[in-house]
Amino acid sequence: MAAALAVVASIGAGLAPAQSAPPQKPLLAEQVFKNVRVLKGLTVDDFMETMGIICAGLAFDCSDCHANAGTNRVNWAADTPRKVIARTMITMVQNINKNNFGGRQEVTCWTCHRNRDKPLVTPTLAVMYGEPSLIPDDVVAKTPGLPSPDSILDKFIEASGGAQRLAAVTSIDATGTSTGFGGFGGDSAAEIAAKFPDQRATIVTYPPATGRGKEIRVYDGHRGYTRTPLNVLGGFELFGGDLDGARFDAELAFPGQIKQILTNLRTGEPETISDIPESQSQQAVQKDLAPVKSYDVDVVQGTGPRGLLVTLYFDKHTGLLDRELRYSDTPIGRVPTEVDFSDYRDVNGIKLPFRIAYVWLDGRDAIKLNDIKTNVPIAEAKFDIPAPTPKP
Ligand code: HEC
Ligand code: HEC
Repeated sequence: MAAALAVVASIGAGLAPAQSAPPQKPLLAEQVFKNVRVLKGLTVDDFMETMGIICAGLAFDCSDCHANAGTNRVNWAADTPRKVIARTMITMVQNINKNNFGGRQEVTCWTCHRNRDKPLVTPTLAVMYGEPSLIPDDVVAKTPGLPSPDSILDKFIEASGGAQRLAAVTSIDATGTSTGFGGFGGDSAAEIAAKFPDQRATIVTYPPATGRGKEIRVYDGHRGYTRTPLNVLGGFELFGGDLDGARFDAELAFPGQIKQILTNLRTGEPETISDIPESQSQQAVQKDLAPVKSYDVDVVQGTGPRGLLVTLYFDKHTGLLDRELRYSDTPIGRVPTEVDFSDYRDVNGIKLPFRIAYVWLDGRDAIKLNDIKTNVPIAEAKFDIPAPTPKP
């Protein structure tokens, strides 16, 4: 997926408006790319999300369908045998949903493929007789008899210091370190700055020796931008589902407004969630990992602006928010992004998480904060959307 970001960056120069201009109508993938025949009508960032979803579904990386991906000899537009199959599969999936499920997106690549190039055909006895899988549906159905969403959110607000104290927070400036999973990227300086109601910037500065530059995620109140570590080629402005996610994260930085930023709230069955463990190969390299922890949680799901689906997991014991799972939509499936919050500590009478870990389809990192200041002045320039960095 690093290559996906590189592609976006390389065309970013043509996409993004000049600094601090109002949001513009973004170009669509078929206007930017040469050979888009089925995934039409998508912004470029959403189009790239579909490539990510395809990779995730089949446990492929870009080069499995695009010859020479990851090198400068790649020709993304060229059709390869697998790319041709994938295109027919995309159309097949869309037809299955249209003809059988009233157009609802019930079948995706994942439904059949589950991390394999060829889907399984026969029931696997080891799975049938193994531990039952308890993975819940993405969409939480209203279940009678559960506490109301409001009561769970009220408990969270109370646990966080109470509505009055939370409402008094107008800015947050936090500093610490960021670690890629598996220790990748080393300990890098991290800063999270936020201004009420919806500006937020996360800036991670990697040590010069890593050659990775900065990781940046910004929402300035209207526009969003992201630049992730493996993308040495630059960053890009968000227009699609990721923009809604960035806005939600900015708003959630001020948890006092949690009841206003989601609508259609509903409570799901309580669950036990666990930290996502490191892969075994990473565990082998890094032995000092914290053990995987589990949490008993209350589950509340709601809808953000433009239909963003968000599930929140509140700790049954502390009432605090353990996890946010949000999904952006693409024509071939939802793209999940998870944010885990832990190590809550008191900051001037309110409780804030000192560890924030991100997990997305093609990467993960964790920020450990050691200092959080509230109500300090923050330069507006922190939230500037950087100009796109063209491909060198
Ligand atoms: C399973 C096969 C498959 C994988 C894996 C895959 N793609 Fe694609 N890619 C396609 C198909 C199919 C299209 C054409 C879609 C269409 O016609 O609407 C495409 C089109 C593209 C295009 C547009 C090229 C042009 O000019 O028309 C880009 C760019 C692209 N992919 C990038 C990526 C990146 C980056 C990755 C890795 C994250 C990736 N793809 C992974 C199948 C794949
Ligand atoms: C209804 C089940 C189903 C769904 C949904 C589905 N596939 Fe497939 N796919 C298959 C089967 C079955 C095969 C193997 C066909 C064969 O071997 O001839 C396959 C094979 C493929 C292959 C060839 C893999 C190889 O061995 O090289 C690609 C690429 C592929 N699918 C992409 C996708 C993509 C992308 C999606 C989502 C847009 C998708 N599929 C959704 C059933 C499905």
